[in-house]
Amino acid sequence: MPPYAFFQKQYMPLEKAKIGILTHAFHYGTACFEGIRGNWNPEEEQLFLFRAKEHYNRLHQSCRILKIKLPYSVDKLCDLTVKLVEKSGYREDVYIRPVAYKSAERVGVRLHDIEDDFLIIVVTLPAYLDAAKGVRCCTSSWRRVDDTMIPARGKITGIYVNSALAKSEAMERGFEEAILLSHDGHVAEGSGENIFFIQGETIVTPPSSDNILMGITRDTVMQLARDELGIEVIEQSVDRSELYVADEAFFTGTAAHVSPIIEVDERPVGNGKPGKITRKLQQTYFGIIQGKNLKYRDWCLPVYGKTSKASRR
Ligand SMILES: Cc1ncc(COP(=O)(O)O)c(C=O)c1O
Repeated sequence: MPPYAFFQKQYMPLEKAKIGILTHAFHYGTACFEGIRGNWNPEEEQLFLFRAKEHYNRLHQSCRILKIKLPYSVDKLCDLTVKLVEKSGYREDVYIRPVAYKSAERVGVRLHDIEDDFLIIVVTLPAYLDAAKGVRCCTSSWRRVDDTMIPARGKITGIYVNSALAKSEAMERGFEEAILLSHDGHVAEGSGENIFFIQGETIVTPPSSDNILMGITRDTVMQLARDELGIEVIEQSVDRSELYVADEAFFTGTAAHVSPIIEVDERPVGNGKPGKITRKLQQTYFGIIQGKNLKYRDWCLPVYGKTSKASRR
């Protein structure tokens, strides 16, 4: 089956879904988006979309920041997505990319009085970071955009120039990921991930006021640390050197899953291998996103109806 897109209020083959070269969002970065994982469960022959509602809630928030009218409720957006993935017939892990964007084909930089539109595409996405071996990072020379510049709590396409500058700098210097500091020097996040570190039995992650995207995986891991490991995650500002002396550190993100950080600025984190608490959180998380942990099954939205084993229970 060819991959489909939801574009201009209808489903169509992905290859037919095209935007014009004058599109406002293309020129000015005036779009916001989500990344939602669909995780294939071979035993149940089912594809589970992970925390789709929370992703669409965040998309609504990003739209408010960008003055984009999104004419669908969260439930409707979930329905549209399930139908799209089902139509494309994937039987493997997928990555869903909904985009709400300023669609007017008009020159002139502003947010008001510009028509909007909404689309969804589905692609396959290979492992983004090496979650098994762990990730070698550097602190970026680029600072995270401040809320007074472009609000990082919105998943806004234009912001990703900041991420792309940091990611390329890191990779071209031989690292796998960048850690961005905020304008006042606190650790903010990776180029596409939230960050956590562990000292003894304490898990710490930067707060929303340090210019981070409020990650859905971040929230998931905070709940799992509390409810499965009995450790309350502390949200507080983190200094760069705290990462140098941490026992463990890891990234979280829809694309990156839970990925151990094994090196920061050419200093090993802990003993330079993925840490014990990180591994435990990672294992718990992987079971949950594939719908294997019934306690957290509400977070998993099944795509396939009649044909799947899941629906025959
Ligand atoms: C800049 C940034 N921070 C954090 C995250 C992690 O967010 P989530 O866990 O919702 O995917 C992402 C990925 O979406 C991101 O792009």
